[in-house]
Amino acid sequence: MNATVWQSDALAKKWLAGVRSAIPLQAERLSVTVRLLAMNGRPVQRFLDLGCGDGIVGAAVLTRWPDAQGVFLDFSPAMLDAARAKLDAQHLFVQDDYGDPAWVERITSHAPFDAIVSGFSIHHQEDERKRAIYAEIFSLLTPGGIFINIEHVASATPWGSTLFGEDFVDALFAYHRASGSQRTRQELADEFYNRPDMAANRLAPVELQLGWLREIGFTDVDCYSKHFELCVFGGRKK
Ligand SMILES: C[S@@+](CC[C@H](N)C(=O)[O-])C[C@H]1O[C@@H](n2cnc3c(N)ncnc32)[C@H](O)[C@@H]1O
Repeated sequence: MNATVWQSDALAKKWLAGVRSAIPLQAERLSVTVRLLAMNGRPVQRFLDLGCGDGIVGAAVLTRWPDAQGVFLDFSPAMLDAARAKLDAQHLFVQDDYGDPAWVERITSHAPFDAIVSGFSIHHQEDERKRAIYAEIFSLLTPGGIFINIEHVASATPWGSTLFGEDFVDALFAYHRASGSQRTRQELADEFYNRPDMAANRLAPVELQLGWLREIGFTDVDCYSKHFELCVFGGRKK
């Protein structure tokens, strides 16, 4: 299975209604992302949200730079509909597949970007393609621009993945309880460990990905937040 599983309307609805809000520490991750962009020292006038879903990461950028022009790219029509419903029409909503290297030419007329952000999306690509996408992102940034990826990465050992999974299920359970759902922890665990998009994950260790960013030419490359397998990492283009 590959990333195209995300083009299903059902999976888009499930993510937006049930899973995303339960992700542990997601508000903090968005806040770290906005802080990194703010500390980059240049206003964000134009940004790209890659694999935008309903545009939650770009929407966080807009809380700080409300007049910025966002380009929201996703290959799922259902996700783009959700993004359009949430965001002003001043932004651009692009249906495209960044797994196809030709996406860069198609988006170039909207570049360069002061910031490129992405949330839980690029990890569906094979490692070779991930690295190439990071290089494509570098080429689309203006000098002085910044790339921040909120991402699901590989644990160092199987124990790490167990820790990640159990923490995630606890968070799902707490979220469902708080929303009045009677679903048991076991039911949620079964659903989580058998979720359809899991087979589409191609998780890579964050250290490996930081190394690629440095080789490509990004500076100030680091993992700025890590909670088990959930990271905020990126770098700046001088
Ligand atoms: C887990 S969702 C995350 C959505 C959003 N960024 C968020 O943080 O809530 C992954 C998103 O990436 C999109 N996506 C995955 N692979 C893609 C690709 N090759 N091209 C464009 N969008 C892609 C999916 O359609 C989906 O909206």
